[in-house]
Amino acid sequence: MIIAIDGPAASGKGTLARRLAAKLGLAHLDTGRLYRAVGLAVLRAGGDPDDAVAALKAAESLDPAALEDHALASDRAGNAASKVAAIDAVRAALLAFQRTFAHHPPAPATGAVLDGRDIGTVVCPEAEVKLFVTASAEARAKRRHKELLERGEASIYARVLADIRERDRRDSTRAIAPLTPAADAILIDTTVLDADAALAAALEHISQPS
Ligand code: CDP
Repeated sequence: MIIAIDGPAASGKGTLARRLAAKLGLAHLDTGRLYRAVGLAVLRAGGDPDDAVAALKAAESLDPAALEDHALASDRAGNAASKVAAIDAVRAALLAFQRTFAHHPPAPATGAVLDGRDIGTVVCPEAEVKLFVTASAEARAKRRHKELLERGEASIYARVLADIRERDRRDSTRAIAPLTPAADAILIDTTVLDADAALAAALEHISQPS
């Protein structure tokens, strides 16, 4: 079984993906970490994430160990990620890894949950279950601001909200694989649903697909 979960920044898609994977015994891949790792590698090499040549080089030489780096969670990595993610060749370079994970998840998992921006539309359009998790920009900024403070990072709510709006704009308007729900995706709005309620809504859909 493949479950595809897409949605904008801080919509709760990662939490839902992790909890669904644990509940159903599936492997989980947070595909945002691939783009974050590429973005961060470019920054660390002193490059510009908008530079297609530097970004492609980082994508092609991506070490799976880089996916475990704690620095991937920073907003700096998130912003660099959304820049490299707009480069066609970078997306193409990361496609095979994602598809292999979906179709041959690490044992003992018998299936996979992938979360990102284009899983249901581009990476795994054949997924049995597609969810699109969203929430208002304000609710998402509040959540991300709280996460950053809890991790001991400095955070200003207005800045987080502006960053989220900018990333939404970049992710939704890019020419390649823009953030958009697959036609057959189920929408889950977490503006008012907490993590338990979102999990319950997803499980209900999975047990009775329409
Ligand atoms: O955690 P958050 O939702 O803030 O971001 P993320 O899922 O880690 O993704 C970081 C950035 O990578 C996004 O803003 C997208 O630009 C890009 N991304 C993408 O283009 N396609 C994916 N499948 C996953 C992430």
